[in-house]
Amino acid sequence: MSQLRVLITGGSRGIGRAIALRFAREGAKVVVAARNSDQLDRVVEEINAAGGHGHAAQMNVQDHGSVEAAVWRATEFTGGPLDVIVNNAGVFEQATLEDTSLESWDRILGVNLTGPFWVMSEAIHALEEGDRKHVFNISSTAGKQGFPLGTAYCASKYGLRGFSDALREELTERGIRVTTIYPGATDTTIFDGVPGDWDRSTMNKPEDVAEVVWETYCAPEGTNVADVDVPPPR
Ligand SMILES: NC(=O)c1ccc[n+]([C@@H]2O[C@H](COP(=O)([O-])OP(=O)(O)OC[C@H]3O[C@@H](n4cnc5c(N)ncnc54)[C@H](OP(=O)(O)O)[C@@H]3O)[C@@H](O)[C@H]2O)c1
Repeated sequence: MSQLRVLITGGSRGIGRAIALRFAREGAKVVVAARNSDQLDRVVEEINAAGGHGHAAQMNVQDHGSVEAAVWRATEFTGGPLDVIVNNAGVFEQATLEDTSLESWDRILGVNLTGPFWVMSEAIHALEEGDRKHVFNISSTAGKQGFPLGTAYCASKYGLRGFSDALREELTERGIRVTTIYPGATDTTIFDGVPGDWDRSTMNKPEDVAEVVWETYCAPEGTNVADVDVPPPR
């Protein structure tokens, strides 16, 4: 495989960081995008130490202009094409319907669903120029199953599932594969500050979700893996 060129939103922490480091081990050029530039810079150092070539692109997926600028910087770094885009940036909140404000609804839908739309809209041309092209959309178990206190989060992740399914149909004939990943609870910073009795020892490790993404990327050329469930191990 020639040197891969990868863009990962939410690449500064958790699952996105783990995916970045997994591709780095293959010697990839990896652009990590998120809002906090200090965290991005730290991951870039880790990517370089792991054998990849890292680049930080500050991006707020809720802001179209910010996405446009970050994708431009990403393609400057790769020389134009992208082979892999991972739509991973996401936020999680729990609230009853009555306690879900419009502001909170808009933020969750804005990051988790409209974000991937902006990223794909801006990056599709770079992806078309790539090799062995693949989009990964990181949904959630909450994209297939509703749970209490999750109206906004579940709506965003069910929505991402629909976006991803439609995108696959649209892009297949252009040689671009689209996979939706459905992780169960995974031990990351997403639970920090969220009230609840979270038993992190029973959760997935972000590195295991990243390995599943890598193995799906390596699936035979003729395949187009649609959905991958990654429930917690126990
Ligand atoms: N952890 C789980 O149990 C779990 C389970 C199923 C699915 N997921 C999904 O997996 C994805 C990653 O979750 P995680 O657990 O790794 O979360 P995390 O540790 O909280 O990391 C979230 C990442 O998204 C970035 N981000 C948040 N808002 C953003 C915005 N507006 N623009 C750009 N980047 C933004 C964060 O960086 P900044 O804050 O600096 O922007 C960070 O890099 C999410 O889509 C989540 O819904 C997680």
